[in-house]
Amino acid sequence: MSDSDNPQNQEINQKINHSYDGIIEHNNPMPTWWSWVFILCVCFAFLYYIHYEVSGTGLTLTQELKISMEKLEKIRSESALKFVDLSEDELERKIKDPNVIKLGASTFQAKCAMCHGEKLEGKIGPNLTDTTWIHGGTPKEILKTIREGVLAKGMPQWEGVLKPDEIYGVLALIHSKKQTP
Ligand code: HEC
Repeated sequence: MSDSDNPQNQEINQKINHSYDGIIEHNNPMPTWWSWVFILCVCFAFLYYIHYEVSGTGLTLTQELKISMEKLEKIRSESALKFVDLSEDELERKIKDPNVIKLGASTFQAKCAMCHGEKLEGKIGPNLTDTTWIHGGTPKEILKTIREGVLAKGMPQWEGVLKPDEIYGVLALIHSKKQTP
């Protein structure tokens, strides 16, 4: 039995009335789910176009990258200034480390020398090389003074301003110059 003899095909053939050399064009509509996927895709494309190209509410990849880099930068700088407490042993070792003292020397010249003098001999701020300490002369006490400052007396707070390594650095420097007036 050929295709055109099939009674069902004959019926369709009549409906759309199109057959050529025995090849019949059928009218098979797309499945409903397929049509919906197509319609939704068109809607999505339309909204996508409006969002990114017309209203300007959609960010480009470059803008998104810029925003995340700024966030990252913020997190990095905050964590860089976050103070890490050391145990007493670690502190003891840290303030004897020549590299730490070296970093402290440059930080001291940049941030502390204008008040404490280039040789720690004292100006507005007290001498840091003698045996007299207002707030205590042990490494722990000096560290506390540097971290918290003495705001009422004009000594700034350095925690959150200097990096922990720089704070330990100036502490190490002061410690190394202690009692060398
Ligand atoms: C704006 C001036 C100023 C700057 C800058 C400054 N200090 Fe001071 N510092 C002072 C003053 C004033 C005091 C005395 C506080 C008091 O009388 O209680 C002081 C006190 C101190 C003390 C305590 C001394 C003691 O006898 O107990 C230490 C330690 C110290 N400063 C370290 C530092 C370090 C380290 C830096 C730099 C990171 C620094 N200071 C920067 C003004 C300053």
